[in-house]
Amino acid sequence: MSEQITFTMDGVQIKGKAGQTILEAADEAGVYIPRLCYHPDLAPHGSCRVCTVLVNGKPQAACTQPITEGMIVENETPELKEHRRNLIDMLFIEGNHFCMFCEKSGNCELQAIAYRLGILSPKYPYLFPKKDVDSSHKDIFLDLNRCILCGRCVEASRDVDGKGVFEFVGRSIEKKLAVNAEANLKDTNAAVTDKAADVCPVGTINKKGTAFAIPIGQRLYDTKPIGSEIENHKK
Ligand code: FES
Repeated sequence: MSEQITFTMDGVQIKGKAGQTILEAADEAGVYIPRLCYHPDLAPHGSCRVCTVLVNGKPQAACTQPITEGMIVENETPELKEHRRNLIDMLFIEGNHFCMFCEKSGNCELQAIAYRLGILSPKYPYLFPKKDVDSSHKDIFLDLNRCILCGRCVEASRDVDGKGVFEFVGRSIEKKLAVNAEANLKDTNAAVTDKAADVCPVGTINKKGTAFAIPIGQRLYDTKPIGSEIENHKK
């Protein structure tokens, strides 16, 4: 039996197991911590920082920080909400997110977190970058306008599919998702059955022919806010 660890989050005692991260223990206890790059089937890599919490007063990524006995965690503070809003705002202005025309609307984690945080429009000016669209593959459609560089597809393709179809190239504002081919996605061994085709939180990697199978208004986050699936199983 694994060792039990008790810690406090926003003044409430939570019991977790040794080896769990703060995010995993919070999920099990029915407490939602916003996250974007984290996916339960992939190893956490702590890149988006949306899950930042305060641990004994210091900022830490909840998806990578292990729980320890007696630690004091803060999750729902005005400052952390502002930090998360800033990150989400920047993701919106650094890409081209036309939610009203996007086939992922209602199933998009970026959009859903923005709604949850009460963002109606970003406070920074839009950059309107020029981004590529790659529809060359017979089953998968790639739209880099919507990529938030979370790294899930890179990790899934490398570690789960064993293919390495996706990688990041460039740095800073020039950083972008690339495919492992001279030209485009059709020249890779990407397949629609790959884990990488399933883990995109936004509308960058799409399976052709599935876009409007579920009508707008009936999609995952159209009916309940993101995080409620965790909060609803609160013990
Ligand atoms: Fe923890 Fe992205 S979800 S850093």
